Amino acid sequence: MAPGIKERISIIEGDITTQLVDAIVNAANPSLLGGGGVDGAIHRAAGPGLLAECRRLGGCRTGEAKITRGYRLPSRFVIHTVGPVWKGGDSGEDELLASCYRNALALAELSDLRSIAFPAISTGAYGFPMERAARIAVRTVMKYVTYHTTIGKVLLVCRGNAAYSLYTDILDKESTGNSEYQMAQALFSHLSMIEASHGIRVKNRVAIVHTLAPAIRNDIQALSTGISLNNWVSATGAYGEVTVPENILQKLLDSLKDTGVWRE
Ligand code: APR
Repeated sequence: MAPGIKERISIIEGDITTQLVDAIVNAANPSLLGGGGVDGAIHRAAGPGLLAECRRLGGCRTGEAKITRGYRLPSRFVIHTVGPVWKGGDSGEDELLASCYRNALALAELSDLRSIAFPAISTGAYGFPMERAARIAVRTVMKYVTYHTTIGKVLLVCRGNAAYSLYTDILDKESTGNSEYQMAQALFSHLSMIEASHGIRVKNRVAIVHTLAPAIRNDIQALSTGISLNNWVSATGAYGEVTVPENILQKLLDSLKDTGVWRE
């Protein structure tokens, strides 16, 4: 049984520099040469080696992410990202903040990491309203872990009880009745069974799940969709690396929307 979304995303109250994860995320500034808040705490805990490596990175643009080693930190790596400065909400701040989380997660996955801890990016010196930032953080992380299965654990580390309660409430609300996550995991496991039984690799598995999961309402539909995909693989005698074509996905999607399920 795939882990539930609340087994993969946890809210923690405490100090990000003590978290025992593969990478902690730094709320940095574009220079990457250190600062106050989280940035200062991470550089203090990591020691001078971190700054020396950061000097060689040539800075970082808002919304982007770069990775360094963790040095004296418990985490092997630090992923530096630069959050948006709050300017009232009409300068693309929401999307830039979401990009920080998305790009940090993508960089962690690319680096084959399994766990990552985030601070509340931009909610300190950069002035981003805490509740709005927390909602963006939770939604972006939930969406990412729904369609990317390698990162097993994401910690959202809050400073102080007020932030902790806020994040916890938002995660509870956003995950209640979130069938998309469960249906996506069900579809991923059906695809894994199809790959194992046919000795194939489905190249566009993430795209398949992205397309179909939002339209699947229950486990029966997930199972029927899996059976239909299996039937297609058997009928075509596909082998090796297989790409399920767009027209087949569209047929499946149409049939799901008709609440039936497409059969050959
Ligand atoms: N662990 C976890 N969270 C922390 C820690 C810590 N050790 N220290 C501070 N925080 C929290 C703050 O309470 C705030 O909610 O991290 C959040 C982000 O605050 P900042 O560190 O001020 O980051 P940000 O708002 O993104 O501003 C970035 O500040 O430190 C400078 O160089 C940095 O210029 C950049 C700017």
